[in-house]
Amino acid sequence: MTDIVFLRDVTESDLPIFFEQQLDPEATEMAAFPSRDRDAFMAHWAKILADDSVIVKAILFDGQVAGNIVCFEMSSKREVGYWIGKEYWGKGIATKALAAFLDHVKTRPLYAHVAKHNTGSRRVLEKCGFTIVGEDKGFPDVRGQEIEEFILKLG
Ligand SMILES: CC(C)(COP(=O)(O)OP(=O)(O)OC[C@H]1O[C@@H](n2cnc3c(N)ncnc32)[C@H](O)[C@@H]1OP(=O)(O)O)[C@@H](O)C(=O)NCCC(=O)NCCS
Repeated sequence: MTDIVFLRDVTESDLPIFFEQQLDPEATEMAAFPSRDRDAFMAHWAKILADDSVIVKAILFDGQVAGNIVCFEMSSKREVGYWIGKEYWGKGIATKALAAFLDHVKTRPLYAHVAKHNTGSRRVLEKCGFTIVGEDKGFPDVRGQEIEEFILKLG
């Protein structure tokens, strides 16, 4: 066993793991992003995997699927996003995964939208060189409240 974090292409067998990871209520609260039911989740991932403009990787830690990391286009800008399963939090995995992803994805600038209360994710981005360049309002959450977000940029 090693503490190595590495990225590889996503396979079909990763999807049930990602599905479980995005169901966690603490994670959805952090990300201010609602979980999808199984059908919606699988349809969403089928679209992601079929879209050549999306770069997506599974994050492996100790050989286990710890999460995923993605780069996609939104409003003509390249955005990054990631999700780590709760049992893997606090081990530096997101930071190492994002650093490795940034070596692989050379496009700059890159952007990220982060809920203002998501201190962990903001820290991950800042440790990898992103800085806050603005603010935005995200989609209303499950309680119908608008989400205040920071916009971060690299390059
Ligand atoms: C946010 C998230 C990606 C962090 O992943 P992680 O692997 O635990 O992060 P790391 O271990 O690399 O931590 C990086 C830094 O953030 C800090 N951090 C992590 N989680 C934190 C939290 N909940 N509160 C405060 N700081 C936190 C760590 O202490 C570390 O800082 P340090 O090096 O100064 O000590 C993970 O909790 C997650 O996937 N959450 C749900 C989905 C989500 O929020 N995705 C991002 C949407 S923008």
